[in-house]
Amino acid sequence: MGVKRLIRIENLSKTFGNRDNGVVALDNVSLTIEKGQIFGIIGLSGAGKSTLIRCINMLEKPDQGRIFIGSKEITALSGKQLRRERSKIGMIFQHFNLLSSRTVADNVAFPLEIAGVPRTEAKKRVAELLRLVGIEDKANAYPSQLSGGQKQRVGIARALANNPEVLLCDEATSALDPQTTKTILALLQDINRRLGLTIVLITHEMNVVKEICDSVAIIDNGRIVEKGTVLEVFAHPQTEAARRFIKGVIQIDLPEEIKNRSLITFEPSEKVMLVRLSFIGESAGEPVVSALVRKFDVDANILAGNIDHIKEVPFGTLVLELRAKNGGLDAALTYLRERGIEIEVLKDESTPA
Ligand SMILES: Nc1ncnc2c1ncn2[C@@H]1O[C@H](COP(=O)(O)OP(=O)(O)OP(=O)(O)O)[C@@H](O)[C@H]1O
Ligand SMILES: [Mg+2]
Repeated sequence: MGVKRLIRIENLSKTFGNRDNGVVALDNVSLTIEKGQIFGIIGLSGAGKSTLIRCINMLEKPDQGRIFIGSKEITALSGKQLRRERSKIGMIFQHFNLLSSRTVADNVAFPLEIAGVPRTEAKKRVAELLRLVGIEDKANAYPSQLSGGQKQRVGIARALANNPEVLLCDEATSALDPQTTKTILALLQDINRRLGLTIVLITHEMNVVKEICDSVAIIDNGRIVEKGTVLEVFAHPQTEAARRFIKGVIQIDLPEEIKNRSLITFEPSEKVMLVRLSFIGESAGEPVVSALVRKFDVDANILAGNIDHIKEVPFGTLVLELRAKNGGLDAALTYLRERGIEIEVLKDESTPA
């Protein structure tokens, strides 16, 4: 199966200001984005997200590194060639950037005018685009007469006017309420699927990533600190930065009463442990707890748990107090690991409270 790379970013660096007291916005960033993917880039304010996405269409010129889109090195182009390649990249913004003196239809027609598309053809295309984003009834309205969600639909229609290969989204839902955010994300996903359009989406919200992205990269202080499929990153976060973002979406912090729970043994051969099990995929549905009780004579006390879905794949965690005699716990943990369940020992009886 051929997975096609569409965007390749190699060793990209960008410093604002001079070398001695400048701000390093991007520090040796490398990324590969596959065709047809929705690729999320998440980071805190000032991490370098906008700078990175603006480099992809050369609104910002990197100091070092190269960017390929398809087989073309966009960082090597200038003038007319750059403009031509740029027209294959659409972009939408947090504050929509619509022209307030133009109607919705004329906003969407704007890039077509610039590209020299004949009037009648442009008119047809605009109607098509407004239908695609679900605001055909607003064609003659002005931006000031629209809600935030409707404005972003205009932004999306305008960005798609020239049939781009890539859509860049810079915090496209950050100015919207949670409900409207959902509808805009659903629209982006629909466009991604229907047109096979590759979407690069930057955000500071893990919810957005969880909702529609296939892959994600985490940017921290201008560096990519983690990347992978969304499922990989959620199930096995490698960095503190990743864990911090995931915490905003799924509960990974333990309640205080569980953290402070004292583990008491009643006999010398008894062992008691507080563990967190992480499941992904099929094992999430398996009755592992009853298997522990049956096969290993383990007492299992369920203290917390949750199951969530990412791209239809179930994944979840379970916090258990496990108690057994005569080495039963070690055998039980081995059994769980063999089933692909990840185990984090939060506490055992030898850990001081
Ligand atoms: N034109 C500029 N001149 C000087 N410094 C800049 C410029 N653009 C960005 N920076 C600096 O580069 C760093 C990265 O900025 P960038 O806008 O890429 O961050 P961001 O991740 O998009 O943040 P936010 O989430 O707040 O939009 C910041 O420290 C910022 O102050
Ligand atoms: Mg930004």
